Amino acid sequence: MAKLFINEKNQKGHINAEIYGHFSEHLGRCIYEGLYVGEDSDIPNVNGMRKDVVEALKEMKIPVLRWPGGCFADEYHWKDGIGPKENRKKMINTHWGGVVEDNSFGTHEFFELCEQLGCKTYVNGNVGSGTVQEMSEWVEYITFDGVSPMADLRKKNGHEKPWKIDYFGVGNENWGCGGNMTPEYYANLYRRYQTYVRQYDAQKPVKKICGGPNVADYFWTEGVLKTCFQPPHPDFAHGYMDGLSLHYYVHPEGWEIKGSATDFDDKVWYKTLAKAEYIEELIERHGAIMDQYDPEKKIGMVVDEWGCWFTVEPGTNPGFLYQQNTMRDALVAGISLNIFNKHCDRVKMACIAQMVNVLQSVILTEGPKMILTPTYHVFHMYRHHQDAELVESYIEGNKTIGVEEAYQVPFLDESVSVDAQGYVNVTLNNLSADEDADVEMSFAELKPVDVTASILKEEMHAHNTFDEPEKVKEERFTDYEIKDGKICFTAPACSVISFRIR
Ligand code: AHR
Repeated sequence: MAKLFINEKNQKGHINAEIYGHFSEHLGRCIYEGLYVGEDSDIPNVNGMRKDVVEALKEMKIPVLRWPGGCFADEYHWKDGIGPKENRKKMINTHWGGVVEDNSFGTHEFFELCEQLGCKTYVNGNVGSGTVQEMSEWVEYITFDGVSPMADLRKKNGHEKPWKIDYFGVGNENWGCGGNMTPEYYANLYRRYQTYVRQYDAQKPVKKICGGPNVADYFWTEGVLKTCFQPPHPDFAHGYMDGLSLHYYVHPEGWEIKGSATDFDDKVWYKTLAKAEYIEELIERHGAIMDQYDPEKKIGMVVDEWGCWFTVEPGTNPGFLYQQNTMRDALVAGISLNIFNKHCDRVKMACIAQMVNVLQSVILTEGPKMILTPTYHVFHMYRHHQDAELVESYIEGNKTIGVEEAYQVPFLDESVSVDAQGYVNVTLNNLSADEDADVEMSFAELKPVDVTASILKEEMHAHNTFDEPEKVKEERFTDYEIKDGKICFTAPACSVISFRIR
């Protein structure tokens, strides 16, 4: 029997809603087909945005969306994507499949999408191949509410009022596809470029995100912070940056081979989950470097690309990164989100890669059809953590499990929050491929009277297809007992459970 102790009185920090963020790049069928089909499409749409996808994302409570890349961002020239669509430049998407990018989805379309979704905006600027002027003018075009060349151009293109940029990324992966820079070189560019990301509206500040490390590149984190960390100053809320990004993908068989999304054995199951758990070490070690510069944790760690990256589905364009999504992805999502919650003092945003039809997506589409993946259901089940307060929790009697010595994982993992309505939200994962877990959940003071719960449970390879779209779905969970103020239940092998308790 595992004992889950919850001290709902001991609040540990605020869980920013943006931890449940998403990423959409001009890559494969993410933007085109997945989100945007154009006004003339037979697929039901509002101003070109797919109705089915927008509704599903709102139901999941999407808090923030990052766009236009990724690697694409450092080759994107925003002026190609404004004005009458028939005049927009066609270009080659060199990073992703060499296909024609017709720029029919640009700045106006992105803000329209975010308005429909009701989410915050995270725009990623171009440092790798763009100029300071280009970046500066983009911010002026989007956010300036006055008379200026860029604001006038926006009005001429049909949008009188400015939009709000909540977050602005100054480059992406500038250690790699964003220019192969050294940390010092990028950091100096960052100092310069971010200067011209002007704050046109003091009431709506643009939070600036500095390009951080890939995986365990502590050298990058140290080198960048050493050069461009700026202590708080009256003129800049947090100096030069509000956040530092971190990218981490789970490739079960390593970067070269990656591994199939649906065909794996127990050994690879545990290996994948152990690699998902590794993000905690990355957060702690990069966080320790950040602590040296920013002990008060004013700068957020922004994990703006994370998730499973497998071999593409057979027969699909290798440059489109289209992959299926099984219960294994659900567990990777559950593990990662619990870790982000538990590190909410430092992790202020995270964006799973990517939202539709690319890598670990929450939605897959095929023509007019749409399916929700197991990962979607996890985000839906975890949504009450958004903007709630993390509280203390601990599992006694939690063993480690796994096939290989090197890839052991905890049997169970959890995170717990208390929200504004006073509900205690518990999300718990059973990481075992085949062993159920008896759990007894107890509280410091709470005597549960109002309990609702849901579960995602199937065998580890289970996934949704266009022929069987509801093979894996969130279901009500009622198989628990309340005894002496404790909630007792069995967490089936390979499952995600969420409770909402008062
Ligand atoms: O998400 C796919 C790619 O992965 C992104 O474009 C890039 O930033 C990362 O390497």
